[in-house]
Amino acid sequence: MIEPVDLRLENGSLLPLSDDRDGDCGVAIDGGRIVAVGRTDSLPAARRAIDVGGGIIAPGVVDEHVHDRSLGQSHKEDWETLTRSAAAGGVTTVLGHGNTDPYVERPADLERKFALAERDALVDFGCFAWVTDENHEDLAPLASAGAVGFQASLAERPLDSGQLLTTMANCAETDCRLGLHVEDGDILESQWADAQTSGAERPIDHCRPPVAEVVGARTATQLARVTDCPLHVFLVSAGSTLDPLLRAKQRGLDVTVETCPHYLRFTDAELTEQGSVAVVSPPLRSHDERAALWECGIENGVVDCIGTDHAPHTDAEKRVDDPVASLRGVSHGFVGLETAVPMLLTFAAADRLSYDQWRRLHSEMPARTWGLYPTKGSLQIGTDADITVVDPNLEWTLDRTTLRSKGTVTPFDGKAFRGAVTTTVVRGRVVYESGAVVGDPGWGRRVERT
Ligand code: DOR
Repeated sequence: MIEPVDLRLENGSLLPLSDDRDGDCGVAIDGGRIVAVGRTDSLPAARRAIDVGGGIIAPGVVDEHVHDRSLGQSHKEDWETLTRSAAAGGVTTVLGHGNTDPYVERPADLERKFALAERDALVDFGCFAWVTDENHEDLAPLASAGAVGFQASLAERPLDSGQLLTTMANCAETDCRLGLHVEDGDILESQWADAQTSGAERPIDHCRPPVAEVVGARTATQLARVTDCPLHVFLVSAGSTLDPLLRAKQRGLDVTVETCPHYLRFTDAELTEQGSVAVVSPPLRSHDERAALWECGIENGVVDCIGTDHAPHTDAEKRVDDPVASLRGVSHGFVGLETAVPMLLTFAAADRLSYDQWRRLHSEMPARTWGLYPTKGSLQIGTDADITVVDPNLEWTLDRTTLRSKGTVTPFDGKAFRGAVTTTVVRGRVVYESGAVVGDPGWGRRVERT
């Protein structure tokens, strides 16, 4: 007799949707891997079956942009709270950014982060190494220590152009990609100085103009061209930034591009409405910049990946008690792990995005960008059984007090969504179902570049 497999997800739709199979398909899982995909009645018998009731069965979401805070900032977040939030948000792999305390700039910092994550994470994880003026000439040890990629910023611990050139040349020698926050620090500094002189310090004056991003994107793509460095541009917030990136792609450069759900959903009007709650870097942009981000980025496909920039801070750090008072001392960013999938499903329900675009932007392309595909980001047989199941029709409204992160400040509080995560599976283990996180700390594993 054939042994039953571990788990079946059945009576759902697989992406891309196809009329003749909708609501009739599933996935079989054994030993943490996908062993069959197809019509429910063709799947092998299983010890446990979950009827997904016509929901969409998608490859697990890979969030390439989370601030895990695990070194020295655990009052904001830790791997357990971060990945509880990930599980509830349908995210099966998180990639942690390195602006912790200390920054992740030496192999020992990476090792500490990995050890904490191995102990506490419920979903799979990877970590970036941060390139600084100290380490940019010697990147190979960080690649060998297991960094999923490198990251640097032109505004935070900024590299100057010479250092960026060396970084890219050295990065090209490793098998890693460089992710860059491209806002130009010099422009930001002079704008902030002007704002202080003129007394413009309210959240609405959060003045980091799109041109800072455009200038940085232009510099970065030019340096990537001469060094052959694979480049990823994080946090594209404005349509204008896409012009140099589109040109770089047309010239055949290996450049990939990220934006975030909040840049697609909100405009700077939110700074008047929600003040410091909506302060994020880069900032929310004008109506026209957002329209161009949709048109060139999403409709014409210049954006490859969606990341959340999940950035937990306490209520006090975000000044939620007096949000419109002043920008001074306000922490930038907000949480996003539990709102990203619902937001993208809401766009899909409104026909702004197809469900298959959601899958590509949120799962396949982040996995490809960081060398994790097809182990992550696919439903191929033999790959990790990481699965996000959603009900695309469920309508609900966010109450931020239900979020699992330590920080719960978000401009999505009180907003309505159409679409919700119903089940999250990481390497064959159900970590979220029926509204409850059911995974355990320690289940999450470090991802390996392939
Ligand atoms: O708003 C932001 N917050 N943007 C970033 O790039 C970093 C993040 C943080 O770490 O809080």
